Amino acid sequence: MDPNDFWLAAKNPVHALMNIAIERAQREDRSRIFDLLKMANMHHIPSQEMPALTYENYFVARLDGKIVGFCGYKILVGSEAKTELMVVDPVVRGRGVGYKLQVRRMEDMLVKGIKTLTTNTDLPATIEWYKKNFGYKEVGTLKKYHEFGDPNIDHWTTLRVDLTEWDKTRQRG
Ligand SMILES: CC(C)(COP(=O)(O)OP(=O)(O)OC[C@H]1O[C@@H](n2cnc3c(N)ncnc32)[C@H](O)[C@@H]1OP(=O)(O)O)[C@@H](O)C(=O)NCCC(=O)NCCS
Repeated sequence: MDPNDFWLAAKNPVHALMNIAIERAQREDRSRIFDLLKMANMHHIPSQEMPALTYENYFVARLDGKIVGFCGYKILVGSEAKTELMVVDPVVRGRGVGYKLQVRRMEDMLVKGIKTLTTNTDLPATIEWYKKNFGYKEVGTLKKYHEFGDPNIDHWTTLRVDLTEWDKTRQRG
């Protein structure tokens, strides 16, 4: 059993029955990806906040075959990258789908030699989620160009994590 699946099953036996698969996103997933982005008000694409979907480093989560989550990342320069988008269908939140998506993109970046990962996010609960589960630290804030995500929050909180450190910590723990 995948260690993540084991953890979830131990936390709540219902999760043992969940069949979550993380796959590379395909262009034909676009319509469902946009449905999910709309649920988080992140569908304003193309825009200054998010110029386009590239499908280069994007992942979808399927629960019993249906896409229930989406995330991606973009390589910047050298060993630096930033996350792009992350959304899980509200109906299945809190069941480990987001965790699996995040681990998958972090592992994918590690393989590509990325060391420093930056994430801009707005919701306080999501900021805590990244800090608690993946070792991110707050490094600043950034004004939003326009509405994207929570319309009541006008700035992004910039979070950063050292992927090598994260990898070492999770192997220990
Ligand atoms: C943030 C978001 C992606 C999280 O997705 P999710 O599927 O609900 O999150 P998960 O179920 O994976 O994580 C929930 C909990 O399970 C735990 N968990 C799940 N799998 C785990 C594992 N294998 N090992 C350890 N912990 C695990 C986490 O610790 C977390 O605990 P917490 O409630 O104490 O934080 C989702 O809430 C969302 O779409 N939010 C709105 C949009 C958003 O803010 N996107 C981010 C933009 S940057």
